[in-house]
Amino acid sequence: MNDAILEAVGLTKRFRSREEGKKRFTAVDGASLRLYPGETLGLLGESGSGKSTLGQMLVGLLRPDEGQILYRGAPLAYPYKGEARRRIQILFQHPEVSFNPQLTLRQSLTEPFRLRGLACDDGALAACIGRFGLYPEHLNRRPGALSGGELQRAALARVLVMEPEIILLDEPTSMLDVITQAQIVDFLRRYQEENGTAYLFITHSTSLAEQFCHRIVRIAEGRLQVEGSV
Ligand SMILES: Nc1ncnc2c1ncn2[C@@H]1O[C@H](COP(=O)(O)OP(=O)(O)OP(=O)(O)O)[C@@H](O)[C@H]1O
Ligand SMILES: [Mg+2]
Repeated sequence: MNDAILEAVGLTKRFRSREEGKKRFTAVDGASLRLYPGETLGLLGESGSGKSTLGQMLVGLLRPDEGQILYRGAPLAYPYKGEARRRIQILFQHPEVSFNPQLTLRQSLTEPFRLRGLACDDGALAACIGRFGLYPEHLNRRPGALSGGELQRAALARVLVMEPEIILLDEPTSMLDVITQAQIVDFLRRYQEENGTAYLFITHSTSLAEQFCHRIVRIAEGRLQVEGSV
């Protein structure tokens, strides 16, 4: 029986080659993996090995050239819609890409509250960011007036409004100081224990992967280095 929440079968992505004369190169080559509820699967590899490309195909940000993605056993079509779109979320390495620079934090947080049909008065918004150590006063600021750590915590707060079942964590702490990194990792762990959320954790740090992940799969030059079944 297949109880994976997300499954990739033979995912392949080719890009236009950087080298003259070669038309296309394969960034991800036939990647298959399974992600189970409540687990953290680490995707570990060097820079340029295809981690983000694979992650972005899995969460529906990038269309695969080949292969299939199953959510709760049913095939997903790109771009994702409905339940899958809400329940599969992403936290980026650079939190500023998650936010419109023109909007205050209050305005940026309003959208997911509306999408979910939740009341978003100041009390609700303050509670949403408060558990990440942010204050009501931060709601009036634009991304440029928040530190990287504050912005990443706000990005996580916003992602969680959607009550995701799966979160792609694409090096979400690599730009942060060690204390903020530890706070975010700690929070994610507790949140997973309480909610059974599945994480796909992308990193190039073996030690962080070993601390945080239940299972680790390595990727090199677009190919998963699989021992047994992933
Ligand atoms: N949109 C694109 N167009 C062309 N090439 C791309 C595109 N996106 C990624 N690539 C290339 O695909 C390869 C894999 O990139 P990817 O971003 O997946 O690597 P990564 O493992 O996430 O690296 P890093 O650890 O540096 O984030 C790289 O050679 C990259 O230059
Ligand atoms: Mg990357």
